[in-house]
Amino acid sequence: MRRPIVAANFKMHLTGPEVVAHAEALVAALAGVDDVEVVVAPPFPALERAARALEGSPVRLAAQNVHAEPRGAFTGEVSVEMLAEVGCRYTIVGHSERRALFRETDAEVSAKAAALLAGGIRPILCLGESLAQREADQTRTVVAAQLEGSLAGVPGDRIPELVIAYEPVWAIGTGRTATPELAQEVHAAIREQLERSHGAAAAGIRILYGGSVKPDNAAELMAQADIDGALVGGASLDPASFASIVRAASSR
Ligand code: PGA
Repeated sequence: MRRPIVAANFKMHLTGPEVVAHAEALVAALAGVDDVEVVVAPPFPALERAARALEGSPVRLAAQNVHAEPRGAFTGEVSVEMLAEVGCRYTIVGHSERRALFRETDAEVSAKAAALLAGGIRPILCLGESLAQREADQTRTVVAAQLEGSLAGVPGDRIPELVIAYEPVWAIGTGRTATPELAQEVHAAIREQLERSHGAAAAGIRILYGGSVKPDNAAELMAQADIDGALVGGASLDPASFASIVRAASSR
């Protein structure tokens, strides 16, 4: 049985004090929910404060990005060790905004994932096709190639620690969600591919859906056999709406 994960990606939203207020409200709103792993990914400067605010709670901390090298002259970048030091247990890699706006390649994503695992942090690896690719019927091949490329440098025995997030680019921040059936189809294909490459471990890997997940569509998405939680952007900024998405995963 895969324990669901619901993760909040705050992107470039919320200042330190806002993140602390969010964390406090979230912990209060989640009282009694113990069958879902809840993760929040604030911007870098708020991580340390968030860690303090979440201390003693089951909510886990994540970063939104990392650099693969352990140290060096990489102005503006942050290392795995730095994230571990402030208490990050997860880190998002390969988000479509990073792939599109910052030209991140599968090879870079793979190096980041490997560095994170080596440093004791679990990657949340994002994959997803663009609207043009979906309309050209390329979803399966695009997602398969991203998955293969993004795992190329990850040692096989660490694969079970990965979390994957399927996020169709056309559904991110657009209010347009993939139908549960459409999402399930891609999730099942991802799991089959993992099974072919890594065998039985595939059955234990959590595959999250992301892209306009809201309180009113979360339950039907989460009801799908291979959807093991959600990566939530916009709707995660309000602690009450994020908590209600967590509850949808809880009653799954
Ligand atoms: P959204 O973002 O929920 O605002 O669509 C999801 C994401 O980018 O992870």
